[in-house]
Amino acid sequence: MGISLAMSGEIPVNLQKAQAEWMKNWHRYLLGRMGMLASALEVGCGCGYVMENIKGVQYVAGIDSSISEVNCAKNRGLNAFFGDAKRIPFPDKSFDLVYGNYVLMWNKEPKVILNEMRRVSKKYVAIFAEPYWSGAVCDSSYLRNLAEKSREFISTKGGNPDAGLDLPGLFFELFGDFEIGTIPLVTTHKDMVEMIEFEKEILNLKEDTQYGNLLYVPTFWAFGRVD
Ligand SMILES: C[S@@+](CC[C@H](N)C(=O)[O-])C[C@H]1O[C@@H](n2cnc3c(N)ncnc32)[C@H](O)[C@@H]1O
Repeated sequence: MGISLAMSGEIPVNLQKAQAEWMKNWHRYLLGRMGMLASALEVGCGCGYVMENIKGVQYVAGIDSSISEVNCAKNRGLNAFFGDAKRIPFPDKSFDLVYGNYVLMWNKEPKVILNEMRRVSKKYVAIFAEPYWSGAVCDSSYLRNLAEKSREFISTKGGNPDAGLDLPGLFFELFGDFEIGTIPLVTTHKDMVEMIEFEKEILNLKEDTQYGNLLYVPTFWAFGRVD
C-alpha cells in the first residue's frame, strides 16, 4: 500500500521515529560542537522525535505549521506550538539554538526561514539534515530506481529533493561564522533494511528477490553562529 502524504512534508509517524533514531548519534555530535545550551527551538518539529534527541538542554520547544503534527508532539508530552517557520511566533533572541531537520526541503523560501531562525536565536542556527537525492549512491539497479522514484515523489509533493545543495550558499550569505558538511555514511544492517523498507512502501514499489545493500543519500548539515 502506498501512503498518501500532505504537501507540507508531513511524513508517517513511524518513519519520523525511525529517521530520528538513525540520526541520533549525529544530532548528539553536532550538539556537542555547540557547547552548553540552555534552550532550543525546532522549526518543523513534526511529532517531535528529533526534539527528544536534544539532550542536556533545559528547555526544548518545537513549532509546526500542521496542527495534527503539533497535537502529536503535545500528546507525547513535548512543548509544541502551532506556527510557520517563515514567521516564527517568538520574539528576537528567544533561544540559544534554533534548528531544523528535513524542513527547508518542504519550503520554496529557505532563505526567509533561515533569516527568521537567526532572528529568534541568541547563539546558533543549525540545519541538521537536508537531502541531495540526485546524488544518491546505490549498489544495485533496484536501489537506483528507488532513489530516482524518491526524487520524483518529493518533487511531485511540492518539495525540493536536493535542498541540501542550497545550504552552502545560504550559510555563506547569512552567517560570517559557520560550518557545513554531509552526514557520514555509518549505518547498521538493521537501519539500512529499515530505510529500504520504508522507501519501498512509500513509493509502492514491487517486491524483488535482490534489492542491493547500499542506499546512501548525501545529506547536508550546517550550523552558523549568530553575532
Ligand atoms: C519531513 S517532516 C520532519 C519532522 C521533523 N523535523 C523530523 O525530522 O522528524 C517536516 C515537517 O515540517 C513541517 N513544516 C514544513 N514547512 C513548515 C513551515 N513553513 N513552518 C512550520 N513547519 C513546517 C511539516 O508540517 C512537517 O511536520
